[in-house]
Amino acid sequence: MSQGLGFTFALLSLLGPGSETMGVQFSGSSWVPTSAQPKNLTPLPWTEPSVATSWAGGDAVSQPFSNFTGSVNDRGICQCSVSLPDTTFPVVRVERLEFTAHVLSQKFETELSKVKEYVQLISVYEKRLLNLTVRVEIMEKDSISYTELDFELIRIEVKEMEKLIIRLKENFVGSTEIVDQLEVEIRNMTLLIEKLETLDKNNVLVIRREILALKKKLKECETSKSEHTPLVPPPPAPGSCNHGGVVNVSRPSVVQLNWRGFSYKYGAWGRDYSPEHPNKTLYWVAPLETNGRALQYYRLYSTLDNLLLYTQIRESQISSGQGSGTTVYKNNMYVNWYNTGRIARVNLTTNAVAVDVWLPNAAYNNRFSYANVAWQDIDFAVDEHGLWVIYATEASTGNIVISLLNDTSLEVLNTWVTKQYKPSVSSTFMVCGVLYATRTLNTRTEEIFYYYDTNTRKEGNLAILMPKMQERVQSINYHPFDQKLYVYNDGYLLNYDLFFQQQPK
Ligand SMILES: *[C@@H]1O[C@H](CO)[C@@H](O)[C@H](O)[C@H]1NC(C)=O
Ligand SMILES: *[C@@H]1O[C@H](CO)[C@@H](O)[C@H](O)[C@H]1NC(C)=O
Ligand SMILES: *[C@@H]1O[C@H](CO)[C@@H](O)[C@H](O)[C@H]1NC(C)=O
Ligand SMILES: *[C@@H]1O[C@H](CO)[C@@H](O)[C@H](O)[C@H]1NC(C)=O
Ligand SMILES: *[C@@H]1O[C@H](CO)[C@@H](O)[C@H](O)[C@H]1NC(C)=O
Ligand SMILES: *[C@@H]1O[C@H](CO)[C@@H](O)[C@H](O)[C@H]1NC(C)=O
Ligand SMILES: *[C@@H]1O[C@H](CO)[C@@H](O)[C@H](O)[C@H]1NC(C)=O
Repeated sequence: MSQGLGFTFALLSLLGPGSETMGVQFSGSSWVPTSAQPKNLTPLPWTEPSVATSWAGGDAVSQPFSNFTGSVNDRGICQCSVSLPDTTFPVVRVERLEFTAHVLSQKFETELSKVKEYVQLISVYEKRLLNLTVRVEIMEKDSISYTELDFELIRIEVKEMEKLIIRLKENFVGSTEIVDQLEVEIRNMTLLIEKLETLDKNNVLVIRREILALKKKLKECETSKSEHTPLVPPPPAPGSCNHGGVVNVSRPSVVQLNWRGFSYKYGAWGRDYSPEHPNKTLYWVAPLETNGRALQYYRLYSTLDNLLLYTQIRESQISSGQGSGTTVYKNNMYVNWYNTGRIARVNLTTNAVAVDVWLPNAAYNNRFSYANVAWQDIDFAVDEHGLWVIYATEASTGNIVISLLNDTSLEVLNTWVTKQYKPSVSSTFMVCGVLYATRTLNTRTEEIFYYYDTNTRKEGNLAILMPKMQERVQSINYHPFDQKLYVYNDGYLLNYDLFFQQQPK
């Protein structure tokens, strides 16, 4: 529309009441000028974009209007036109908008007060932990690949702590002193992680120590919360079997991703055990090739710190093992030889194959592997009693067979046949001559559901839940000195602490 519509707005303010004038009326969503009769405000029809509104009695105007053009025509009628930029001002819509805005602001006010209430209920350190998690995630994105894994680890541990704290808070209603103190320390940890962003990867270890200390405090805090419940009994001495068997496992701690990366979902890892040097720290990581079958490369680390930092690596190649049933005992690696039922001992000092023999009657090449895990018909295990091999035979109709081996010659010293079908368990491990078998409950939980005691030939059921990071447990190795399980979980290296029944059976 043109910008030159005739309009009377300016006149209204200049003409007194009662005088013959023109009115303005709202009509629809537009301003509509009306004719000049008082109390009879009927809209004028619009005929063309620029209409000059007429009015009689030009003498009523006492001042000149410099802002619009005015003229008196030959019949003495004054004509004028005023320019208004937009002729369709949406009054009704504006009113509706105003009303809506009002309603909304009222609603917002209500919600805001609710939120304020809620925010007060959330304690400061929960926010900080959340913040920390976010910050670590950001760090992960910005960091180079090898530290990513360590950050992943921190992130998961912090999440664990978060859960613990939430549980604690529920238990500490009314008395939050201890929790407050923990908050300070967690804030400290936040600062440390901030520092870490600018420093090198070695600081990951500092953080880890901090987290461990905090975890310990949280644990203490947890146990002290109910004074009447007896304290957790001390664990049995390392290497000792003076207990009544496994009754529980801790939540997993993620040590790291395997050194070959996310695609290497199959494999095994653990810590070498030698009864003569029980506290020896030699860690091994053996991811299979991505086909989930061949074992060719493994790495050794003289300490856990070296493993965490991927430093002082000893990497070797063998040609080649099969499956994730590998274990290490007394500086020797034990493997199922590729495409055979043979078992071999590899001297880790020389990486030479010292012994290579058939395991009598053992089924192989996926005849009786574990559930969800292929190529693991033959699975080695180490415990306080020595070196074991877990497999199945045609004679056992696929049920688990346990053999104790001479770890030098790989000769079978003794054999036990169980009633548990091997392909229906997801993995096994040995502790003090007792076989423990796991099965998959769901993508986040395994269950230690079965045991066979070679000392008594008794077998039975258990229901010990094992939370896991990823879907599939590829292998489990037990270490008698630290009494931990070393679990290879779709490429992640996990640790679990075992809890034992105090009274020997
Ligand atoms: C027209 O009126 C407007 C508002 O009253 C004023 O700001 C402006 O200066 C006037 N223009 C002239 C030429 O007087
Ligand atoms: C979260 O971290 C950012 C970045 O350091 C900081 O600015 C913010 O105050 C932190 N928030 C809380 C609640 O600690
Ligand atoms: C926080 O860290 C500082 C130095 O980093 C240390 O002196 C202080 O004791 C720590 N506070 C707590 C509660 O751990
Ligand atoms: C086993 O350990 C987990 C984690 O430490 C714990 O939540 C659970 O209550 C324990 N179960 C039993 C039966 O003690
Ligand atoms: C390992 O054990 C030996 C004795 O068996 C002891 O001298 C040494 O201090 C121990 N090392 C560690 C790290 O515990
Ligand atoms: C492994 O090889 C080294 C070097 O030949 C040898 O000293 C050591 O005794 C061997 N270990 C075993 C367990 O055979
Ligand atoms: C294991 O085999 C080695 C070598 O054949 C032999 O010297 C040793 O006595 C055997 N040990 C046992 C317990 O049979």
